[in-house]
Amino acid sequence: TYVIGAPCVDVKDKACVEECPVDCIYEGERSLYIHPDECVDCGACEPVCPVEAIYYEDDLPTALVPYLADNAAFFEETLPGHDEPIGSPGGAAKLGMVPADTPLVAGHEVIPG
Ligand code: F3S
Ligand code: F3S
Repeated sequence: TYVIGAPCVDVKDKACVEECPVDCIYEGERSLYIHPDECVDCGACEPVCPVEAIYYEDDLPTALVPYLADNAAFFEETLPGHDEPIGSPGGAAKLGMVPADTPLVAGHEVIPG
């Protein structure tokens, strides 16, 4: 799967969403998340992200490795304000923006600069 990491937090450019042929890039409150089971590894999203937030799982910079499990957690864990995990909706557009994030993203501090 491909993975979205920390650079997306509070940026959410969404150029990636336009490129994805299977609509597997889901929107949370502060970041977007790639569904690891729905992503077909086409790679179309990776070059269009202006902040280089997207990597193939095996190519993640060390600092972004935790985001592999974290993207999966957005779908597998019960998010704040939810009664059950999102699971595999089979399309991000119909689900719309989910007003929640994983603990890793929710706790991400953007260093002012
Ligand atoms: Fe985020 Fe980059 Fe997509 S900022 S929304 S991963 S284009
Ligand atoms: Fe979509 Fe990117 Fe995967 S375009 S299919 S999320 S590699």
